[in-house]
Amino acid sequence: MKKPVIAIDGYSSTGKSSISKIIAQKLGIVHLDTGALYRGITWFALQNCLDDHDNIDLQLLFSSFSMIELEFKNVESELVLYLNHINISKEIRTNEVSENVSLIAKQKEVRDFLLESQRNLAEKGGIIMDGRDIGTVVLPNADFKFFLTASIDERSKRRYHELISLGIEADLQQVKDNLIARDRIDSEREIAPLRKADDATVINNTDLTKKETIEMILSYVKNF
Ligand code: DC
Repeated sequence: MKKPVIAIDGYSSTGKSSISKIIAQKLGIVHLDTGALYRGITWFALQNCLDDHDNIDLQLLFSSFSMIELEFKNVESELVLYLNHINISKEIRTNEVSENVSLIAKQKEVRDFLLESQRNLAEKGGIIMDGRDIGTVVLPNADFKFFLTASIDERSKRRYHELISLGIEADLQQVKDNLIARDRIDSEREIAPLRKADDATVINNTDLTKKETIEMILSYVKNF
């Protein structure tokens, strides 16, 4: 029996990845957090493609794609990215990567390079992929598409508490400013901007718990 392909897009800190991971486990499918791919390329660039001023040299990065091997290992329904055989799960969450990833994610060359890997993973079905352009560009024929939103104040609070729980110092106003800036870059970029697919179901989870959001998505998917 073919299992569903599910696309989840939406704003930062709407819980896309953690919600998708639980749904994958409940449905017996796999989850790919596509943000990790853009973060992985950013990590590689910071390691290997800096110019004399310690800025990322984009041309050098583009000419280095042939040296990047991406693999995905299934760990409890989660597709974990290995870049050149290294598990970089921790490295891609550092501030340095977060601060540079929007620049990398808006490059057409980078998006083209990552497109095929993402599509290949969905070929046999049984996957939930979350990101910004999954329903619009990567998997336009997905069986189900959802677009998650929440108010900026609620998202700021969630991100703030997440950072505090990780032992990272945070300031609520700064977190909010950062989210607004990232939303703008993601939505206004020329290639594959953050946009709801015409056939996606919008879920505003400002007043929903994570569990309620998961149940809502499952109520759509259960009759597949
Ligand atoms: O979801 P995240 O914060 O880990 O994403 C990191 C960056 O990658 C963010 O700037 C948005 C971008 N991104 C993207 O452009 N397309 C995707 N499918 C996923 C993430």
